[in-house]
Amino acid sequence: MSDPALHHPVLCCPTVEAIRACVAPWRQAGERIALVPTMGALHEGHLSLVRQARRQAERVVVSIFVNPIQFAPNEDFSSYPRQLQSDLDLLATFGIDAVFTPDAGVMYPAGFATSISMAGPAAAGLEDASRPVFFNGVATVVAKLLIQVAPDLAIFGEKDFQQLAVLKQLVLDLDLPVMVQSGPTMREADGLAMSSRNVYLSAAERALAPGLSRAMQAVKTGLAAGGTAQALIRTAETELEQAGFRIDYLVLRDATTLGEWHGHSEGRLLVAAWLGKTRLIDNIAIAPVDPDGQIKE
Ligand code: PAJ
Repeated sequence: MSDPALHHPVLCCPTVEAIRACVAPWRQAGERIALVPTMGALHEGHLSLVRQARRQAERVVVSIFVNPIQFAPNEDFSSYPRQLQSDLDLLATFGIDAVFTPDAGVMYPAGFATSISMAGPAAAGLEDASRPVFFNGVATVVAKLLIQVAPDLAIFGEKDFQQLAVLKQLVLDLDLPVMVQSGPTMREADGLAMSSRNVYLSAAERALAPGLSRAMQAVKTGLAAGGTAQALIRTAETELEQAGFRIDYLVLRDATTLGEWHGHSEGRLLVAAWLGKTRLIDNIAIAPVDPDGQIKE
């Protein structure tokens, strides 16, 4: 059968030439273009970014590309959920102007030899600690997407908070002429942050998963009540481990630098933990503490 994407009401651009030809007249007409990069398996978290894009720009492009170079050999590249047809059906209801759907041959043709190597927030000791190739892979593909589509605005989710910081740094360091915007984390009714990887959870694991956001909320509430971060985090870690999570990190950092948090700037509580074979990440804002030691709410 021929590629179903070619016969879809949403304009699908599978090559760099096609997306450039699609975007060129919009730019010529002075229309504002927003890009929402994704790896597909779209859920309400992605769609909230698409809606945000719609509000900010006359033209919205969504990219769908499961980027092989951001997965380590032991990670889930081959099993990552792929559902292009239903993603396109969903996007068709959103008035999207084009979907950029390159394959690996388009993105990384034979002989491809360039990688963007990032430090700063990419070396904060969070995701990078257990996923050493991840941010170079993300930075390389996002730099390519931004050069290919050349949007005025690119939107990323706070769900992947370190990734957001890395991409802001990338755009700053390479003088890319694009504004980076963030969108808040969308959650299931029970607090679990939406993620394409949640489909990996067994029914029993799914029932435990909201414990992660509850544990973070408990730390936040405890801090607001004057508790110390160290003690609150230790309690949360113990509870999560007893519930069956294996924690990679649960840390409070400065929200801008992702370095040490000294209390008087915006903080961010970030967590990564395994439930069985599924790795979940999440984060929440922590308000600065005023000089009397009270959290400002
Ligand atoms: P993906 O995991 O598909 O996520 C695409 C975008 O959706 C990212 O900006 C991510 O932060 C955002 N997102 C995911 N879950 C969200 C949620 N629950 N609420 C709000 N936003 C959410 O992140 C990637 O793809 C890739 O690394 C990519 C940037 C596309 C580069 O390959």
